Amino acid sequence: MYSKMYYLLKFFVLGFLVQSCFATKSFPESFMFGAGTAAFQIEGAWNEDGKGPSIWDTFFHNKNAEENGDVACDSYHKWREDVQNAKDLGLQFYRFSIAWSRILPNGTLNIVNQKGIDYYSNLIKALKAENIEPVVTLYHWDMPQHISDLGGLLNVQFVDYFEDYVRLCYNSFGSDVKYWVTFNEPTIHCFMGYGYGNGAPGFALPGDGLYQCSYVLLKSHARAYRIYDEEFRDQYQGKVGIVLESSWVDAETDDLLDLEAQERSLQFNLGWFANPIFKGNWPEVMIDRIANRSQLENLARSRLPAFTQDEIEYINGTHDFFALNTYYSNAVRYEDDEPIGTPSYSKDLSVGSSINRNFSDNQAFRKLLNYVNDRYNPGSILITENGKGTSDGLEDTDRIEYLKLYLGNLLDAILEDNINVIGYSLWSLMDNFEWGTYETRFGIIRVDYDSPNRTRTWKESARWYQNLIATRVLDNSTIIINN
Ligand SMILES: *[C@@H]1O[C@H](CO)[C@@H](O)[C@H](O)[C@H]1NC(C)=O
Ligand SMILES: *[C@@H]1O[C@H](CO)[C@@H](O)[C@H](O)[C@H]1NC(C)=O
Ligand SMILES: *[C@@H]1O[C@H](CO)[C@@H](O)[C@H](O)[C@H]1NC(C)=O
Ligand SMILES: *[C@@H]1O[C@H](CO)[C@@H](O)[C@H](O)[C@H]1NC(C)=O
Ligand SMILES: *[C@@H]1O[C@H](CO)[C@@H](O)[C@H](O)[C@H]1NC(C)=O
Ligand SMILES: *[C@@H]1O[C@H](CO)[C@@H](O)[C@H](O)[C@H]1NC(C)=O
Repeated sequence: MYSKMYYLLKFFVLGFLVQSCFATKSFPESFMFGAGTAAFQIEGAWNEDGKGPSIWDTFFHNKNAEENGDVACDSYHKWREDVQNAKDLGLQFYRFSIAWSRILPNGTLNIVNQKGIDYYSNLIKALKAENIEPVVTLYHWDMPQHISDLGGLLNVQFVDYFEDYVRLCYNSFGSDVKYWVTFNEPTIHCFMGYGYGNGAPGFALPGDGLYQCSYVLLKSHARAYRIYDEEFRDQYQGKVGIVLESSWVDAETDDLLDLEAQERSLQFNLGWFANPIFKGNWPEVMIDRIANRSQLENLARSRLPAFTQDEIEYINGTHDFFALNTYYSNAVRYEDDEPIGTPSYSKDLSVGSSINRNFSDNQAFRKLLNYVNDRYNPGSILITENGKGTSDGLEDTDRIEYLKLYLGNLLDAILEDNINVIGYSLWSLMDNFEWGTYETRFGIIRVDYDSPNRTRTWKESARWYQNLIATRVLDNSTIIINN
């Protein structure tokens, strides 16, 4: 009896010690650490060496905006230094995007710009030489202006133009690229570019333009996936996915109506693109609500274009992994439907929302990963963006605290919830043009925009990330959560 209790006691004491030893947990061997950028945000050289204009060049030039992407971080010329930084950080992968109009100035195959192909070829070779896996975004919002002039994502022929472009990319770079992502954050692109007009190409069509955009974009994504499957997979054995962005959304209370608002919110945002690709067709709640309101608006058909059965099957299953971006958490509550009037996405969704761009929900990322895993059963998840925008400065402890919190959530999801997250790409390798401002800085490496050299300097967070990658151990024991 006594001895049994002794053993029990010993077991507990030992158990406690073992637990403390493992209090700082490590990332699995196979887990990949990376960082990301996007062409328009870093390259500059907007009209050099045969590059054609993109919709974002036009967008800022037409507004005579004080800030634009003409030079940005000048990575078109400084890419060797960027690769060196990636190497010194110990990155296992680097996510960047190809500027469509740098290799096809008009977006179409009539002119292929060899200098553009060489630029990405050199970058990819240099990364491979340092054992850094390139993760390549085919479309990070910077559509060639000419394709936009033809209707852009409101014209279903975009699907064919996109096919021509991605086939050229697979042909040119496919032997060295194992991870492709077709589109970056389609929700935000359709929202800004075709819904609310606050981003290129600047159409304010909040009741239908953004849905048309999503319809054409999903068909284009599926085409790009199927082309890879049919023509390249056997030879290159790569993987293809799409990058979806979502904040975690909480319900403000446990009231059934608030919980419904929470689910509706996630479906209108994440499900809008994830459902067709991972389950087949739009989320039911979007189909129903938009059809209903369209009818009351005296429209002959729903503002949300209907997929044919063939289209549903063609789009369903076009993924080899789930690529996820996330930055914030958000809470919603029930709100009465707005009366019928000028149609819009926000009326279709109809939730009361409070965006908490702070750490108020310390479990947000873990909850989001569980939601994605449960709803979409994706097999594997790659975090393609996460990070914090801050003001200028090299002592960015606020960024480090944010990263500790999110990476702690990520570890819990992997180790406690058994979710297969295969890698994490921090946004961003360096400060860059945040679609209209240079003031919000997401980089772990500072860029001096006042210097013609666009001098790069490591911030504290870069050294912190370098150490995390080297040790694979997350020390979040001193986390300061600043609400
Ligand atoms: C783009 O297309 C337009 C119209 O077809 C043509 O005038 C122009 O020369 C083309 N430019 C390039 C760079 O291909
Ligand atoms: C989509 O594909 C999955 C997996 O093959 C299948 O279970 C599901 O029924 C498909 N959805 C539709 C709507 O066909
Ligand atoms: C449309 O919405 C109204 C108001 O919520 C509801 O009463 C009606 O049943 C809905 N109609 C359809 C066809 O879903
Ligand atoms: C953080 O979130 C809380 C909870 O919703 C909110 O009350 C607070 O105003 C937010 N703080 C900041 C700085 O945004
Ligand atoms: C620190 O990370 C661990 C996972 O390694 C997690 O369980 C713990 O909750 C995190 N602590 C904080 C304060 O976030
Ligand atoms: C820019 O770089 C060049 C070559 O490294 C150097 O000689 C020059 O002093 C730098 N200029 C500035 C303003 O930093």
